[in-house]
Amino acid sequence: MDRIRIVGGKELNGTIPISGAKNAALPLMIASLLTADRLTLDNVPNLADVNMLVRILGNHGVDYTINGKRAGENGTTGRTIHLTAGEIVDTLAPYELVSKMRASFWVIAPLLARMGEAKVSLPGGCAIGTRPVDLLLMVLERLGASVDIDAGYVVTKAGSGGLKGAEIEFPKVTVGGTHTALMAASLAHGKSVVHNAAREPEIVDLADCLNKMGARIRGAGTSTIEIDGVAHLSGTRHAVLPDRIEAGTYACAVAMTGGDVMLEGVRPELFQSALDAIEKAGAVVTTTNEGVRIKRNGAGISPVDVTTAPFPGFPTDLQAQFMALMTRAKGQSKITETIFENRFMHVQELARLGSHIRLDGDCAIVEGVERLKGAPVMATDLRASVSLVIAALAAEGETMVNRVYHLDRGFENLERKLGACGAQIERVSAPG
Ligand code: EPZ
Repeated sequence: MDRIRIVGGKELNGTIPISGAKNAALPLMIASLLTADRLTLDNVPNLADVNMLVRILGNHGVDYTINGKRAGENGTTGRTIHLTAGEIVDTLAPYELVSKMRASFWVIAPLLARMGEAKVSLPGGCAIGTRPVDLLLMVLERLGASVDIDAGYVVTKAGSGGLKGAEIEFPKVTVGGTHTALMAASLAHGKSVVHNAAREPEIVDLADCLNKMGARIRGAGTSTIEIDGVAHLSGTRHAVLPDRIEAGTYACAVAMTGGDVMLEGVRPELFQSALDAIEKAGAVVTTTNEGVRIKRNGAGISPVDVTTAPFPGFPTDLQAQFMALMTRAKGQSKITETIFENRFMHVQELARLGSHIRLDGDCAIVEGVERLKGAPVMATDLRASVSLVIAALAAEGETMVNRVYHLDRGFENLERKLGACGAQIERVSAPG
């Protein structure tokens, strides 16, 4: 199993190209199930989760090529993916696949909308919380489908006339619930209105792509989305939006180490709340045509309190990375997690590097320290793992980050991107 070895203490200087967003690419790929025509996606990151999802979609009958090559010819690397669900051969998504990647549960919406039925394994819990799917199922029921749970599977069927447009009101903001509503309601009869919809940029990206496919969606990016159902959708070509979480992660890294890095290809409005916090911490943020530039010279890191919230609030997917930055602030900061109930597993690993963090319910109180010291660490999820990389970049001596497969799920070329900016970082194969 691979590990990442980091020797801390180097400033970061240079340019980091920001990849396409994992969390936009996944629902866009799933939307290919809604049409028999070809959906071409550009700027798709080469990540373990993306590569897993093409295999899952293949199971339902989606024919795919990556950079012009047929499946299997060149593995699953590449940046342009063509997906054609000419015929859905299976509306069953088995436990073995759904349990590997939670977002694959979302296939339930297009399968139901197009085929009138789906049987999809419940995704189960995961490292950051229980993560129920009750609100996703509520969407299907509101659109007139029956929903039963049978032996760990959700079995859903549309009535004889197909799905019917409805008012859908979410009691809490849910990204996956909103994706589900957009996909299912696009092929329903009549009009749907989604209240308290998620406003994340990835929702807007999916709605833009669906509209290019012939859907009639208005208001994506606001909390009320209207969808006029259409009889069928067609193919299109769409470029995945830049990854705001990847950009925010590298912004935290530069604020941590000092230096001057251009985050190429990202737009500030995608992660403004994070940029505001990073600026308060002492970095200088400037926007150019190329992207967002982060610079910190000389002065130390100031403590900043943050509370995670749905977009446009501070993203939960940057909470661990920002906490890593705060471990070296000059004073105390408070980080509050409101989205997931168990998203502090990085705390005990950051402690191995010498940080002082106390947990109090949904808050982490971080006492900044002057120095961190390298150590072997491991993490249980993607964002937690990368927070350890950020801390390691500023720690004295060597840190070995274990369980690198978490990083490979969501960060394209992490060690190459950081290495090109001067970090001493390499991937090593672990013995055994
Ligand atoms: C998406 O997950 C992202 N995943 C997550 O990114 C991200 O952390 C999360 O949104 C919040 O921004 C993808 O886009 C693939 P939610 P999702 O439904 O859609 C509760 C990463 O590291 N809830 O917005 O699953 C839920 O438990 C990942 O890239 C219900 O109660 O998140 C949570 O407390 C991790 N019932 C809150 O809502 C439901 O039916 C928000 O979850 C659904 C959700």
